[in-house]
Amino acid sequence: MIEGLPMAVPAPGLPARVRIHEVGARDGLQNEKAIVPVEVKAEFIHRLADAGLTTIEATSFVHPKWVPQLADAEQLMPLLADLGGPGVGLRLPVLVPNERGLERALAHGVREIAVFGSATESFAKANLNRTVDEALEMFAPVVARATEAGVRVRGYLSMCFGDPWEGPVPLARVADVSRRLIDLGCDELSLGDTIGVATPGHVSALLAALNQAGVPTEQIGVHFHDTYGQALANTLAALQHGVTTVDASAGGLGGCPYAKSATGNLATEDLVWMLHGLGIETGVDLGRLTATSVWMADRLGRPSPSRTVRALSHKES
Ligand code: HMG
Ligand code: MG
Repeated sequence: MIEGLPMAVPAPGLPARVRIHEVGARDGLQNEKAIVPVEVKAEFIHRLADAGLTTIEATSFVHPKWVPQLADAEQLMPLLADLGGPGVGLRLPVLVPNERGLERALAHGVREIAVFGSATESFAKANLNRTVDEALEMFAPVVARATEAGVRVRGYLSMCFGDPWEGPVPLARVADVSRRLIDLGCDELSLGDTIGVATPGHVSALLAALNQAGVPTEQIGVHFHDTYGQALANTLAALQHGVTTVDASAGGLGGCPYAKSATGNLATEDLVWMLHGLGIETGVDLGRLTATSVWMADRLGRPSPSRTVRALSHKES
């Protein structure tokens, strides 16, 4: 074992490679009360790219009053021009809720967007000021126009396991809204455990229900928040089901401003430690990534909640 790296011991039935969809700069920062300077956001994203992450969600083109932290999307995108260009190979998706958001994103040459629906009415109202059906109606022209422009579309679905207002969410309800997002033309679906209440058996059952509803595993990513410490166990359940796209946030930053009790996402470092320990390739340099999260924690003025960041950075000091 090399200091700072897990010993790789593969387990049967798991994928050889996982694509990490890094959400720290968007999901991670959107909840921060103090506005992070745009230059710091740009440096954060460059550091994440240097650490080997290839899909880095950059920001959101939402209403600036709804998410003030990301009101600088127009200022940020030009600072990332060197990363998103042809031939660089980096994917820099942005969140877009409606046609207004799409227009803003297209004006900045964005090549990948994400719409974000909800499996529950309460969160659809809180997050988008729409019912579930109205939100899907709002997304329809966004997905169609984006696809026509050759822009890749991810469909997030929030509250796939439990909802802070409505409690447990039935599998059939999640499968139904998932199917409708895929039918709109989303290339990929990301299953959000927005408040982190899922457990591994629930994850397996939901993935099976989605397959039964006609959503293939290849189109599914998982997006776990770590409120109850279940995110890694849930990820392993998803990998065992064949999922190869996993969302995570550097340093475990995060939360959702419109969901009570949402805490940070699964920390990318914790995920990478497990994946590399299983002999699964990610392309990520764990040392560089940890250094980035320590740097970001200094900017935010509080330590990273990631266990791996804490373990590795204590070793360094
Ligand atoms: P609304 O108030 O219903 O907006 O908000 P509207 O459609 O009635 O429009 C009102 C005004 O806003 C209009 O201006 C629009 O032009 C303007 P006016 O004509 O009055 O001058 N407007 C915009 N301006 C800039 N950019 C836009 C835009 N849209 C409208 N895109 C809306 C509806 C969807 C806009 C609002 O609810 C919103 O922005 N919500 C975003 C909330 C959000 O970003 N939440 C966090 C991300 S989701 C998440 O974190 C979960 C996830 O991580 C997965 C998981 O964990 O589960 C993805
Ligand atoms: Mg989230």
